[in-house]
Amino acid sequence: MKPPRKLHIKSFGCQMNVYDAQRMVDTLTPEGFVETASVDDADLVILNTCHIREKASEKVYSELGRLRAIKEEAARSGRQVSIVVAGCVAQAEGQEIIRRAPAVDVVVGPQSYHHLPQLLAHAERHGRALETEFPVEDKFGFLPPPKPQAIRARGISSFVTVQEGCDKFCTFCVVPYTRGAELSRPVAKIVDDVRRLVDSGVREITLIGQNVNAYHGEGPDGRIWSLGKLLYRLAELPGIARLRYSTSHPRDVDPTLIDAHRDLPALMPFVHLPVQSGSDRILAAMNRKHTADDYRRVIDQFRAARQDIAFSSDFIVGFPGESRQDFAATLALVAQIGYAAAYSFKYSPRPGTPAADLRETVSAGEMDERLVRLQELIDSQQSAFNRAAIGRTVDVLFERAGRNPGQMVGRTAYLQPAHVMASPDIVGRVLPVTIESLERYSLLGRLEPAASARRSPLPLQTGA
Ligand code: SAH
Ligand code: SF4
Ligand code: F3S
Repeated sequence: MKPPRKLHIKSFGCQMNVYDAQRMVDTLTPEGFVETASVDDADLVILNTCHIREKASEKVYSELGRLRAIKEEAARSGRQVSIVVAGCVAQAEGQEIIRRAPAVDVVVGPQSYHHLPQLLAHAERHGRALETEFPVEDKFGFLPPPKPQAIRARGISSFVTVQEGCDKFCTFCVVPYTRGAELSRPVAKIVDDVRRLVDSGVREITLIGQNVNAYHGEGPDGRIWSLGKLLYRLAELPGIARLRYSTSHPRDVDPTLIDAHRDLPALMPFVHLPVQSGSDRILAAMNRKHTADDYRRVIDQFRAARQDIAFSSDFIVGFPGESRQDFAATLALVAQIGYAAAYSFKYSPRPGTPAADLRETVSAGEMDERLVRLQELIDSQQSAFNRAAIGRTVDVLFERAGRNPGQMVGRTAYLQPAHVMASPDIVGRVLPVTIESLERYSLLGRLEPAASARRSPLPLQTGA
């Protein structure tokens, strides 16, 4: 029997890339590959790249420089190392990668990675291969569902893709170009995936998509189902402790999704709802197709449905034309909403997007300053949110052993890491924990033995 070949995969960017990386491993496992954590002993190295900001995509070329040296070193001792570039930079700059990086054997876009075995075989026989056409075919349909490697459980929490691509065309964003048009998977396939994951021990499912609440998949009744309706269906599956979804667009929040937050205890009260800016002028220039007040109204609807709901968001500072007043409107919106967490970025012009043609008006220094001010405000909100947990008893889904002996780690409904001293058999259970202190971003607490005894056999969700 041939010895297994070792595969090292490095992923950049969003949750979709993390998910795709796992599917690439699942696709290559039947070909005799096993994963290795070290790049140095790998026979195949895959860079799963991100194109969202300039810094992210420039990383690829520096990584490739390092990999080229590793490949040449291995060749001297008679070992062949193959290099694959996958993900959104592969999609956007495939030809350039082939031209600039001769060490690369295969370039494969996000819609084609299920062809990796064929592309690798092609590269071995005929030289380098490039596949960035899309859609080649429905990649989700490529692996027949009954095969266990179609989607393999890894731990307690798992992503499941429900839709991919985006038709929104925000003027700053590459995603509609790298991931293509919106495509929703049929409900039956998602239910199948979730069932299989739950059967192998997964307790928390995060439905992912570039625009997850634009989901409009074919239901078993032949009608088009919304994300809300899909969540109601998944909540019926026995064994699911927690459901989440990401990333949502404010314009696609519909009444069924709001109702789902009211009705489904398993649906976690934590929603990532990017707004990008608090200024209507900038929102219009970004082609977000909603105003700051529209966003406030959506937040109010969520809050009316579920009192303990919390939000995170994404922000861009320094978009072309952003004045001091526009930026002040962003700070005001953040102050008003009050976030549990948020990501903020300096605007980065991306080739091929409409905003790249706009004259940049915010100096680098001013952009830095705005980013710092926004991040300080967000940080203070996040700290206050975390501190508010101290003294409370909250539900924690336990995932794994902690760094210190005897310590176990899980997450609260709001994804805060929570540490307790407990026996390892609590992995996979949702248990009440009284939070005693806060260490940076982690909560430290103790299990509530009395409370767990009070609850029915295996408390799944004890939230509001
Ligand atoms: N689909 C999601 C996420 C898209 S990318 C959404 O609609 O919100 C994640 C975040 O990166 C975006 O929310 C945005 O804040 C940021 N981003 C995207 N393009 C950017 C650019 N050109 N410059 C700076 N930040 C950007
Ligand atoms: Fe990009 Fe806008 Fe689509 Fe989000 S909604 S992926 S920011 S184009
Ligand atoms: Fe990056 Fe592509 Fe995700 S550009 S953020 S990896 S969709």
